[in-house]
Amino acid sequence: MGICLSNQIKADSTFHTDTGTISSKMVSSGGTELSSSSSKRSSASVPPTPRSEGEILESSNLKSFTFSDLKSATRNFRPDSVLGEGGFGSVFKGWMDEHSLTASKAGSGIMIAVKRLNQDGWQGHKEWLAEINYLGQLRHPNLVKLIGYCLEDDHRLLVYEFMPKGSMENHLFRKGSYFQPLSWSLRMKIALGAAKGLAFLHSAETKVIYRDFKTSNILLDSTYNAKLSDFGLARDGPTGDKSYVSTRVMGTYGYAAPEYLSTGHLTAKSDVYSFGVVLLEILSGKKAIDKNRPTGEHNLVEWAKPYLTNKRRVFRVLDARLEGQYSLDRALKIADLALQCLCMDARSRPSMDEIVRDLEQLQESNKDNRHNNQSDGGTKSCRSSAEEKRAHIAYRNKQSNSGARSCSEKHAPIAYPRPSLSPVYA
Ligand SMILES: Nc1ncnc2c1ncn2[C@@H]1O[C@H](COP(=O)(O)OP(=O)(O)OP(=O)(O)O)[C@@H](O)[C@H]1O
Ligand SMILES: [Mg+2]
Repeated sequence: MGICLSNQIKADSTFHTDTGTISSKMVSSGGTELSSSSSKRSSASVPPTPRSEGEILESSNLKSFTFSDLKSATRNFRPDSVLGEGGFGSVFKGWMDEHSLTASKAGSGIMIAVKRLNQDGWQGHKEWLAEINYLGQLRHPNLVKLIGYCLEDDHRLLVYEFMPKGSMENHLFRKGSYFQPLSWSLRMKIALGAAKGLAFLHSAETKVIYRDFKTSNILLDSTYNAKLSDFGLARDGPTGDKSYVSTRVMGTYGYAAPEYLSTGHLTAKSDVYSFGVVLLEILSGKKAIDKNRPTGEHNLVEWAKPYLTNKRRVFRVLDARLEGQYSLDRALKIADLALQCLCMDARSRPSMDEIVRDLEQLQESNKDNRHNNQSDGGTKSCRSSAEEKRAHIAYRNKQSNSGARSCSEKHAPIAYPRPSLSPVYA
């Protein structure tokens, strides 16, 4: 859809070492090299082996398509089959036979999404290869399935499973009769699915940092299961005794963690910050950055943070279209979780595993409540029962007494680095 393009900040992602020089493993006479994704690692202390383009393509278990296959599958990239546009290029809908993976007539076989790189140059190629490197090896219910790729002359394409409900971004922010506002329970389901995808990436066996978590990269299947797409900026996490990966700053403005923007030090907690931004977008129905909002409200995180802990003021942040669908208690818990993810001190942010557990517990308690409400004859008010308020206070006391995962800067103003200070904006 391209609506993020003006916000998108994709600079050259040449990796830098801690001393700022280009890592030798990134340059080879054979062309592109990427570090292998960690499913190939046998020990965390062994540095990942760089892999050449040929090795990545060969070992990916993906189908290699010809350009003419994909031309036929998309009816010659017909403009009316465009599903969306992003920084990489346009995404087209196509049809393919499920077994032979050859182009089929529209309406027969399976639907696919074909992403076509429309920019020349190194960066586009590198992102195309990174996508194949990661999605060619990683499989998880909350990651989109990459079926294959095409590399022919100047053509670079990627072929994915088709995600019938498109991106979370469209559902949250697009107006129009097709996009009805998402209900509270669907928003929570999507948040949990996306959290599981990130938790899988961060897990000890995988150890990947996603680096581009945002609503346009959360795709939805027919029953709103969330799947992460776009691994063009993903990086292997730190190995050995390193606590971060040193990189050129890349990502999307509004989602990137402040310490990453100012230092280029990338950790799994950078993804957690981005998850907090998305959680806030889910709660508020507002975009992370929107210059059309009144002065002082352009940056969602800066504007919303002070309201998140106050049960009277939190309604200023919550999407008015959700009214009557959630309990105050649950909304405050989600707001509190977002706040923890957005903590300025990265170490105080929860892990994705903890976030998954919290979101699962909230969904369970929601189910229990619905069940109890039904057996009570549904008399309990959804929004302001005294019981829920008590539960909420107990929850907050527990949080503050335990000392665990507390974000000491909760009420501090955000020192968001000025965009111009970061190389990414140069
Ligand atoms: N597998 C898919 N199935 C259905 N629609 C898709 C699929 N992949 C992408 N899309 C649609 O195409 C749009 C563009 O995707 P793309 O990833 O190229 O750009 P983006 O995520 O909007 O921006 P960015 O370049 O910053 O990632 C998505 O927002 C989505 O609506
Ligand atoms: Mg995308």
